[in-house]
Amino acid sequence: MSEKKAQLTIDGVADPIELPVYEGSTGPDVVDVRSLVSKGIFTYDPGFMSTAACDSEITYIDGDKGILLHRGYPIEQLAERVSFLDTCYLLLDGELPNSTEKAEFENSIRYHTMVDEQIHQFFRGFPRTAHPMAMLVGVVGALSAFYHDTLDNENPEHRKLAAHRIIAKMPTLAAMCYKHGVGQPFMYPQNDMGFAENFLHMMFGTPCDPPKVSKILSRAMDTIFLLHADHEQNASTSTVRLAGSTGANPYACIASGIAALWGPAHGGANEAVLAQLAEIGDESNIEEYILRAKDKDDPFRLMGFGHRVYKNFDPRATVMRGICDEVLDELGLENDPLFRIARKLEKIALEDEYFIERKLYPNVDFYSGIILKAIGIPTGLFTVIFATGRTPGWIAHWDEMLSSPYKIGRPRQLYKGHAKRDIPS
Ligand code: CMC
Repeated sequence: MSEKKAQLTIDGVADPIELPVYEGSTGPDVVDVRSLVSKGIFTYDPGFMSTAACDSEITYIDGDKGILLHRGYPIEQLAERVSFLDTCYLLLDGELPNSTEKAEFENSIRYHTMVDEQIHQFFRGFPRTAHPMAMLVGVVGALSAFYHDTLDNENPEHRKLAAHRIIAKMPTLAAMCYKHGVGQPFMYPQNDMGFAENFLHMMFGTPCDPPKVSKILSRAMDTIFLLHADHEQNASTSTVRLAGSTGANPYACIASGIAALWGPAHGGANEAVLAQLAEIGDESNIEEYILRAKDKDDPFRLMGFGHRVYKNFDPRATVMRGICDEVLDELGLENDPLFRIARKLEKIALEDEYFIERKLYPNVDFYSGIILKAIGIPTGLFTVIFATGRTPGWIAHWDEMLSSPYKIGRPRQLYKGHAKRDIPS
């Protein structure tokens, strides 16, 4: 139990209120304010800037130092040495799998990649022009209709089954979102392929012409999924936890996470990077856009630069940059006009005083947008890829919450409306 204490003195209250202070294994201390409600006081923290809503053992971020750890392992080491599925196992289980566990887990995921044929009918109901995220949020929620018999949240085996099912089916559904939009037949998953390779097969193959998926592109895709796997209590993960705290089923909870991710302030930034590169249009226009980004009176921002949490560098962006070079090289796109603009923009911004002073480095979305575009993924699908990568994080947090005693998430408010009044007679 906590040795440290904080004291809160409020005008008009004679004695200070003593509050326990807890130390995490690393990172800031937290003051336990739970007893305040019994004294008629709430704390006020819109945006949860200073509020820890839970304790967690999954992911740790130190934004000032550019550190991202999953279960203690640095993201750079995971990206270099293990696969996305190993990382899923790590997030869910707490440890990296040994060879038997790895084989079992990969088999289980493989076994669950297909979706019920009825799901095809759901897709057929959407207009061809539907945004892929609009379809994804709907069909993931709809999955709960197919698994009534395994939705007991109190049962760890049911939770594990749901976790494997959702992780396995996300790439299948993501590819279906694409295929529906372009009017091509859905491709069935291939159980002899790896996770990312299978995704690219379902995306770019047709029954007449199965694609040959390059090893470099599969690896890049796997790394993109891995780098998005978790990011502690971000908006979508907190949404999943909040929905889960009501006892909602896992498919509904993940659908709520997908809805939260869809917003441009969260998952939509890599799409915006590509839109901006297209708008710049030519290397000769870059200077003008840099000037606009620096102009105090212009709300314009360079998309893909800066981060709320990482104020030195984003460790995911460092890994992604290396992959970006490999992919452009593999596809012979170094001289493509759009990618030349991206390279020049990156160089100018990294050398410009304005960006250096404010620590505005290219973020993960800058490079992931470029890689996904180079692979041939349409920009409308970028957030769907993010959701596919983030699914193990969402489900690991949901499972962690349900594994120990928890309370329904129910924030309070500072009420500023009318006090009680009567309707005039
Ligand atoms: N272009 C130009 N100036 C910028 C940019 C930018 N992209 N980002 C921040 N600034 C300036 C800003 O004008 C301010 O300048 P000053 O101090 O002179 O007023 C200073 O840098 C600090 O900005 P801030 O708004 O206080 O920083 P923030 O931490 O609140 O914002 C951010 C972080 C990511 C919202 C912002 O950098 C941004 O809008 N970037 C572009 C959008 C983007 O790439 N978003 C993806 C982020 S990664 C998502 C993820 O990890 O899920």
